[in-house]
Parts: sequence; C-alpha cells; structure tokens
Amino acid sequence: MEVNVSTESIESVLKSEDKFRKNHEILFYRRQRDKAVSQYFTSYETFVLTDGGASLELCERDSQDRLSLQIRATQNGTIRVSIDELQLVKPRYQVSDVLVGELRYEPLRVEWKKEDCVCLTWGLGQYQLLAFFSPFKLEISCAGEEIVTLNPGNKLCFETLQDPASRSSSNSSEGDENCCGLWKETFRQFEDIKANGPSSVGLDLSLHGFNHTYGVPEHADTLLLKDTSVSEAYRLYNLDVFGYEINSRLGLYGSVPLLLAHKPERTAGVFWLNSSETLVDVKYNTEQNEDEDEPPGKKSRISPRTDVRWISESGTIDCFILLGPTPAQVFSQYAQLTGYQALPPLFSLGNHQCRWNYEDEADVKAVDAGFDLHGIPYDVIWLDIEHTDGKRYFTWDSKRFPNPAELQHHLMKKKRKLVVISDPHIKMDPDWSIYCEAKKGGHFVKNREGFDFEGTCWPGESCYLDFSSSKTRLWYARQFSLSKYEGSTESLFVWNDMNEPSVFNGPEQTMPKDALHHGGWEHRELHNLYGFYQHMATFEGLLTRSGGTERPFILTRSFFAGSQRLGAIWTGDNVATWEYLKISIPMLLSLSLTGIQFCGADVGGFVQDPDPELLVRWYQAGALQPFFRAHSAKMTKRREPWLFGEEVTSAIRSAVQDRYCLLPYWYTLFHQAHTAALPPIRPLWVEFPKDTSTFAVENQYMIGGALLVCPVTDPGVTEVKVLLPGSNELWYDTNTSEVHKGARSLDVPVTLTTVLVFQRGGTVVPRRTACGSCTADLQHYTITLTVALDIKGKADGFLYLDDGHSFNYRDQMQFCLRRFSMQAGRLVNSCANDKGLFVSDDKVETVVILGLKSVKRKPKLKSGAKRTSVMFEFDKKRGVLTLSGLELEICKDWEIII
Ligand code: NOJ
Repeated sequence: MEVNVSTESIESVLKSEDKFRKNHEILFYRRQRDKAVSQYFTSYETFVLTDGGASLELCERDSQDRLSLQIRATQNGTIRVSIDELQLVKPRYQVSDVLVGELRYEPLRVEWKKEDCVCLTWGLGQYQLLAFFSPFKLEISCAGEEIVTLNPGNKLCFETLQDPASRSSSNSSEGDENCCGLWKETFRQFEDIKANGPSSVGLDLSLHGFNHTYGVPEHADTLLLKDTSVSEAYRLYNLDVFGYEINSRLGLYGSVPLLLAHKPERTAGVFWLNSSETLVDVKYNTEQNEDEDEPPGKKSRISPRTDVRWISESGTIDCFILLGPTPAQVFSQYAQLTGYQALPPLFSLGNHQCRWNYEDEADVKAVDAGFDLHGIPYDVIWLDIEHTDGKRYFTWDSKRFPNPAELQHHLMKKKRKLVVISDPHIKMDPDWSIYCEAKKGGHFVKNREGFDFEGTCWPGESCYLDFSSSKTRLWYARQFSLSKYEGSTESLFVWNDMNEPSVFNGPEQTMPKDALHHGGWEHRELHNLYGFYQHMATFEGLLTRSGGTERPFILTRSFFAGSQRLGAIWTGDNVATWEYLKISIPMLLSLSLTGIQFCGADVGGFVQDPDPELLVRWYQAGALQPFFRAHSAKMTKRREPWLFGEEVTSAIRSAVQDRYCLLPYWYTLFHQAHTAALPPIRPLWVEFPKDTSTFAVENQYMIGGALLVCPVTDPGVTEVKVLLPGSNELWYDTNTSEVHKGARSLDVPVTLTTVLVFQRGGTVVPRRTACGSCTADLQHYTITLTVALDIKGKADGFLYLDDGHSFNYRDQMQFCLRRFSMQAGRLVNSCANDKGLFVSDDKVETVVILGLKSVKRKPKLKSGAKRTSVMFEFDKKRGVLTLSGLELEICKDWEIII
C-alpha cells in the first residue's frame, strides 16, 4: 500500500486533536497524582559508606515496600541519587548508552549524625547533603544555603514489580486493575498489555529560591516553563505530531529530561535519566509562605521556591542534581554526563535546501544552478522519501534518479553535498534484500507475541529495526558502506526521520508499548531512546564509511539526552505562519540549554505556503539559528528563494550571505560547544544571569557572548523594541555602528531587509570578507575582525580553525585557536592553545574598531621586531576606526597599536 498525504489529509491530521492522550488519559500519571502521600523512612542501621558513595534502605510504612537508595557525588558538583527495588522480582530497565564513560565519584564523608539525620559532605566540604530518616527526605545545600530538597512533599512513589503469579491473590478485581491501567490499559482502539504490571516511579523536589525554570524539551511552548498546576504537565514522550499545536505541553519528537532552574546567584539542573514516558509538573511558589517548621509569624527561610515532580511509567529513579553555580558550570556538568556537542563539519553550518520532494535529477541540478544564478550561497541539497524505489531506503527510484552517483559528482565539483532520508521502518517486501537480511538476522522489533512487529508507515506495511540492539546497529551501520549502498558516494549524508518511531496505525501514531526489544525489554521502557539509537547507528555507519576519519553529518527528528554527540536535530513539522516562526526561537533555545545545540526549524514552515514577507523573515531568522535548512511539504508550492521577485530574492541573498560571512564565528562557537558545552545560541539570562529583566525574554537571544539578535517575527513591522541588557554594557548596532548604553529598551526602525544584530562592547567577532557560493569557498576570502570596545576600552574574542571536515583536529592536533585581545590601545593576536598544530594561511585584511573617541597617533603594526604603518580611516562621528589592506597572517602573533 502506498501512503500518500494529500491536502485534505493534511487538514484532517491537523484537526486530529484526539489522536494524542491528554494528561487525564495517562493512567500511571493519574495513579501517582491521585495517590495519598507515601511514608518512606530509613534508619542509620542501613547506612553504608563505600569509596563511591553512600547507600541506605528505604521502607514504606503501609506497603512495607523496600527500596535501595544510592547517593553519589562527582568531582564537578553533581550529585546522583538512584533508587531501585531492594529485592527484585525481575530487573528493572536501566538506561545505558546515554551516559558517557564511567563517572568518577568522590568519597563522601559523614560530617555528623543525629538520631533522625545524617550529614554528608565531600570535596572541599562546601556542599552538604542531609539525609533525614523519617519521613525520608534529602536536603542539599551549599555554604548553608539550601538548594534542593528531594521528597519534600513525600511524593516518592515506586510501584514495585509484582510476580504475575501472585496477582490473582491480590485484593483488587480485574475491573479495578483495568480502570487504573495496572495490567492492561485501553486507549481508543488500542490495548496495552502490561507484562510487568504497574511499574511507575515518581519523585518530587523543591528548588529553593528559584522561580524560573527552563528546559525539558521538546515542546512547542515558552522558554520559561509554565506552572502546570493550571495547565497540562510537560509530557516527555516522543511523538510524530504533524503541524503540532503551539503553546502546548504535548510531547513532540524528542525528549531531554533535563530541567534548569535559575536565580540571580545560582543556576542548577535536575537530570532525570529515564527513557519511558515521563511527565513533569512545575509549581512556582512565589508567596512568602509561612514555614511549618519555623516559629509562628516567621517567614520561611528561602522564598520563592519551585516544586517539580517527575513521574515516569517504568524504569528506575536515577536523578542527577547539577549544582552549578553558574550557567556555564551547569552546561559543563551536564556534558560530562551525556557528552558534548559533536563538532559539525563546516559544510553543515551552511545553507541547506530541502523539499519533499525534488522530483528528479534534472530538478536537483536546476535548483542547484538556481543558487549560483542568483548568487545565494548554499552547501547541501536534500532528497526526501520520493527519491527511493517505493520507500525502500538505501535504494533509488530508477526513473527519477537513474544516476545518483553522477548527480553527487556534479554537486561535488561545486563542493556541495547531498543528503538523503533514511527512516527506521523497512518495507515488508520479501523480494528486497535488506528486508530479508534484517528479518533473517532477527533485527526487527517484535510484537507482544514475539513475532516481527508490523505497522504502517510511508511504504505501507513495514517492520521496524530494533536499534536498541548493538548487533542491529552494527548491521544497519554496514548498510551505509560505499560498497553496500549503491549509488552513494562519500559526499552523501543522512537524514533520520519518523524515528519516534512513527507508526501510522499505532496508538498515538507510535509503537505499542508492549512491543518487545532485544533482551525482552518492552518498548515502554525505552520508547524515548528509539530515535537516539537510530541516530547512533547511522553515525557509526558514516564514521565507518570513512574509516573513522571524517566527521559524520546526520539530522534526526527524534532524540534523547546525549543525541548532541551524534549530530543535528530539527523541530519537525511546523506550519508556515508567523506564530510558528515566533515559537521556533524558544523551542531552539530550550534545546540549546539542554545540550542539543545543533538545532534548527524548517525555514519557511513545513506545512502550507508562506507569503513572501514571511519567507524573508524566516530566512533572516533561520540564518541566525544553528542548523539552517529550508524545507517544505509535498503539495506546498515551490518556494526556492528566487521565485518571488527581486526584492525577496535580494533580502534572502543578503541574509544568507551574512550567515556565510559570520561562519568563522559560528564555527568557533561550535568548537566551544564541543569542548566546553557552551551553547552557540543562548537565552539572554545565560549571559546576564543577575539581570532579572532578561529571565523571560524569548524573542531575542545571544549568538555566543558577543551578538544579541532580535529576529522580526511579526508581519508589516516598521519598528521593533529591543531590550539591551546590562547597565555597564555598550551595544553596537551592526547595521549602523551606532552605540547604545545597556539596561534599556530601544525602538529600532526596520524595513524588509533589516536584520537586527547588536555587538556587545568588549567582544571581537571574526567574519569572512566575502562568502562565495558555498562554505568551501570561504577559505579564499580574508578575515575582518570587528572589535567592539566596552566602557573601559577593552575587547576580547577567539577564532577557531581546522580543516573543517576530518577528525585531525582531535587525533593530530590539527587545529588553531587564536585570541584577539584589545586593551589600552593595543590589539594583540596571540595563540590561545599552544597544543594546536594547524597552520592556516588565512589572513586578516581588515580590522574595524568600534567605540573609539579619538585617534591620537597613526596606528602601527608590530610583528616580530618590525613596526610598520597601516592604512586607516577614522570616522569620528561614529567612533569607527577602520584599518585596511593588512594581509596579516592569522596564525602569527602580531599587535596593532593605536
Ligand atoms: C516527516 C518529516 O517531518 C518531514 O520533514 C518529511 O518531509 C516527511 N516526513 C516526509 O519524509
């Protein structure tokens, strides 16, 4: 059966509100919410201190359920609290492959103990953990300041697994069990048989002094998390939601169970490592409540407070508290757990052109030529599902794409690449070798009866690869080898789609939770990891294809914590309206905060047709986002940038060219993401953590520490209000070089071509002087440094360079990191990492210094012992000094004295 999406079915999918569960239809969540508080207690007799941490036994007063609790602390300010059953009927699922390597734990010390509490410290002793015995509660503080309490409201809930044999002897009737979804749950026409019975876990936490929280993507919602006591909880359940609703807590394609909390003095994080369906409730308490433990009339010690409650359908409790205290430290603490952003090959930071579908080879070549004709740089053209022979991935439609290798060579000559789609479903075709091999090799997910699970997707009846098995991942990875994948070349890269996984005829359009994976694990245990594992297998495939030398590029729709190590993600099927353009910003900021830093949204909007103004504004916004790809659905009108008249073409050209010129800066930011976990795009509060006016800002953000951007996301706009934070800051409008003091809002006039970018005083931004037709051309152009002085006349910035595609930067130290530092009238170019051996022949041609009041003497260049004069021009009115014709080697030390 061929599945086609027509305009009518698009409309009907858009209206299919009841395809997905609402909170009240999620029975494990309801069970936990409706349950009376638990009464866990522990005692010092069960306390054990080992080299790697401490453990305690917990017991629930009524049920007598017993749990084991482990407390571990890492050297870098992270505490791990793990809870599992003490005596297991059978093992519970533990997430593997997400944490990177073995964590190193610090020895804990008992500082003191009392009858009802033990106090633990570690490291230098600034942090303290109090374990209260009855009721059980953990309180973590730093230098006397409470940061977080675990189980403050006694909502720890752990449904211990029961022996199915003993089930019949329990008191509850089958009817009761079904309505609570204990052993069976029905949603619409779908029945979920729970082989393990009820297995949910949940825990509450209080974050003291915080009333701003962020993260837990992916949702089409505000940057600042909402109080869910008045709305639906944040659902983490990877789903294929076509034309998703905005301002919704419904789970979208990927999940990262990391929540950040911020207050002026501290940022903290809570990472809940569980891959089953999870709901997160957030409650802000801003009132100065009277604390029950304090004498009457006395205010609670710390206010405000945010209460967070995590509830997962199965697995164990494995909760990491990241103590910061700075945003940068939280990013790094999280990256030490789940890995750093992969350093993308440079081409993948360029402009990507996609459409469902480019019809045939002639169409691809014509679009490719269109970019050259219209002077718009781009690097990659994409082929969607129609390029295949009947949606059999790894094949080509022989009529439309008879010579795929030739097509790739055609692109390669222009240093451009091809990306093709590869979904996780495999068409059930007994005449197709890949299907047969996968079936024979036992590589498919099984249904609850143990037969290959069958569901429908693009090819019709399909089976789904079980990427949770390392054997299957290896088999899949091999399919990408040049010898196996006919028509592929080393310039072909991959797009993993529909990997939530999307099952058109499944519950909530995904895989039934009682399907079975390798090792006998139910799909419910690892649902949120399915896409992560496909991404991982594809990454391995491309890596192996090059013998481990070339950086893979893979875009995935579904993801989990740790997916940042494997490539890029995008926000799926958005709609071509202004609201979706607007929401793309908080969505990408939430992803960036939670490690998924190479992210983007379909430029132009996937569903429906953007009007030309929206298309221009979307290109302008997309050019300022990490992953920059135009994409459109089947049935939408063609929208290559030159189809709407010269005004539109020229506005798009200029936005794309500016992106390319700025790539040295973006690439340097990705190097910082790769090595220090700093997100290339950041909410304002990350750069201005003490400035409360920034905490809820989501229409503007920072690219690195230097550029503040405010994309226009409304139609017909002639003026935009921009918040310039920081009372000691200076902000330079990059369009006019005009300088503005911080801590103010500015009304800036805009036309269709205006892109609002402000450079922060105190920074140096490297750009290419021109851009050519793709990223490979950038090396032919020199570099311009824009030095924006702060109020003290200082500025600082970096430039990272390497070959842009291989792992030589890592394996052979073939990189170069330069620092540009301006102080007291001297701009110094020095080496910022002397381990780097890469010698680039790039040259700095121009230096522009913003914010100079006067130039007292002729600028001089000092290189070695030589001092020479340089060409300069000083615009006194604007305070801009331009030094040109410099030809200064980037990898050599030099100084400019002004
Ligand atoms: C769904 C994806 O989100 C979309 O980008 C793609 O074009 C279609 N699948 C068809 O492959």
